[in-house]
Amino acid sequence: MGYIGSHTCVELLDAGHDVIVVDNLSNSLASVASRIEQITRKKLDFINADIRHQTVLQSIFKQHQIEAVMHFAGLKAVGESLEQPLSYYENNVTGSLALFGAMLEAGVKTIVFSSSATVYGEPATVPITEDFPLSATNPYGESKLMIEKILRDLAISDSGWRIALLRYFNPVGAHESGLIGENPLGAPNNLLPLIAQVAEGCRDLLRIYGNDYPTVDGTGVRDYIHVVDLACAHIKALEKLASQQGVVAYNIGTGQGTSVLEILHAFEAACQKPIPYQFVTRRPGDIAQCFADVSLAEHDLAWRAKKGIAEMCVDVWRWQSRGVRS
Ligand code: UD1
Repeated sequence: MGYIGSHTCVELLDAGHDVIVVDNLSNSLASVASRIEQITRKKLDFINADIRHQTVLQSIFKQHQIEAVMHFAGLKAVGESLEQPLSYYENNVTGSLALFGAMLEAGVKTIVFSSSATVYGEPATVPITEDFPLSATNPYGESKLMIEKILRDLAISDSGWRIALLRYFNPVGAHESGLIGENPLGAPNNLLPLIAQVAEGCRDLLRIYGNDYPTVDGTGVRDYIHVVDLACAHIKALEKLASQQGVVAYNIGTGQGTSVLEILHAFEAACQKPIPYQFVTRRPGDIAQCFADVSLAEHDLAWRAKKGIAEMCVDVWRWQSRGVRS
């Protein structure tokens, strides 16, 4: 029940699905399950287990009639992946292999996989379409590419597989109830949680990595997508797979680029206070601009992101300032 998984659980339960969550709680809290139940007023089945333990997965598939899997489980910090590559390959790739093996054995061949825009490496241009060349610049990205490849090979081996690779751009925001949101254990790496911590007063200022990029104001541009819009894309992808075999990749973003300063000012408006910041040198490995061409998802999934930057910031601030994160 991590950040994206928890929001997707809400949408799945609201859409009438029965959900079984398997999570080893390495970067999440068991209390999130009751929050999800509180929001949806529905029962959530939670199993504290690690997807690398294939025998546990096998027994879960035996005990329940599972129709499809959504696979969010994985480590996701780029810097950490450079320091601890083995743990990234072990968690992300070995974990996925165990999961896919258990699915195959159980005859469950429908899966929505959490991929990332990181698979485009350093894109030559923007907006990015799904047929752009793929590459990785760190073990985290490499692990996402490998899992995509494994799933493609599964689809080649057996036409019964139905696979959606959702390439997330920059997920931000929180549920409007203020009950679930992003809760990074330890210091966050991503922009929005950092801005929120500065606003809350637990950090002095935001360090902005570079103000000399060829962008609207010199700061980096990204495609921030509200996590509830992202969660809804999973439901649409699942529905699509009912009538589509094989494997297909979709960019899941808004199609709009927003700079660091634009986000910062939107957050200032949301929290009604100034966010101190300082320009520092570029972060190694960062790109100037990254935003999606989302026409494929819009066309195939009849899905479109609805929430804008202002709403994303308001929802993060509500979540952060309610302080119900433990
Ligand atoms: C990062 C990862 C990427 C991953 C994505 C989503 C790196 C190099 N890339 O991308 O692989 O898919 O998160 O989890 O880590 N920024 C600041 N100050 C900060 C933090 C960020 O100015 O303290 C800027 C960055 O330079 C960037 C923007 O904010 O322009 C967004 O940063 P971040 O949230 O880390 O996302 P990405 O860089 O897109």
